[in-house]
Amino acid sequence: MKYVFGNWKMYLDFDESNILINGLLQEKFDSEKVGLAVFPSTLALREVTMSAKDTEFAVGAQNVAWVPKGAYTGAVSAQMFSDVGCHYALVGHSERRHVFGETNDDVRKKIEACLETNLIPVVCIGETEDDLEAGKREYRLKKQLMKAFENLELNGGKVVVAYEPVWAIGTGKACDPATAQEVHAFLKTELKQYFDADITVLYGGSVKAENVVSYVALGAIDGVLVGGASARLDSFTELIRAVEGV
Ligand code: PGA
Repeated sequence: MKYVFGNWKMYLDFDESNILINGLLQEKFDSEKVGLAVFPSTLALREVTMSAKDTEFAVGAQNVAWVPKGAYTGAVSAQMFSDVGCHYALVGHSERRHVFGETNDDVRKKIEACLETNLIPVVCIGETEDDLEAGKREYRLKKQLMKAFENLELNGGKVVVAYEPVWAIGTGKACDPATAQEVHAFLKTELKQYFDADITVLYGGSVKAENVVSYVALGAIDGVLVGGASARLDSFTELIRAVEGV
């Protein structure tokens, strides 16, 4: 089975998010072939989790705070997301790291907060264009993995990793599939240092219906994390149908 996760970012308001989840639910995708999750805005999240309850769609938060409760203006905790029916949370998405200044240490605390509340963190990592040009892709990825996972106790929980090269996100410049497969194989080897279990690794960055099969057909790529193409019913449906057909 391959995974398709849709990160709706701040693309959709409350009504648009509800219209999209209800449209997707009408499609009746095959949960034996594709593992589905959507990540709506925090505002729409509770309504979307209620619509998606007991369906083929899991729901996740786009970001979490690492403390459960308290004087943290503007923050929403992993515990609070879990309480309203979320299964996942994106942690360390490139936009959080690069626009909002989130550090590897923040990412680590958020991963721990997720694991304490039974949320599965989808830990996003990826090199920048500068890293790539300087031949530092592996260095960057190794460091992000180490900071995220060294001595981490899963305590029966689970983590997912998303490899999202920063230069490929929202640019239309997707990583070529053979390279993505090599990077995934490298990540899976690295992940063995930290975990006994096999870790699911998704590819993200300019994935759309037209190119998704070239990624999910490859053994080391367990699925995709999709931004722009997941925020419209037609493009997301077409993309999921393509993965169902693999
Ligand atoms: P994109 O975004 O598909 O629009 O490139 C991917 C992501 O940010 O997860």
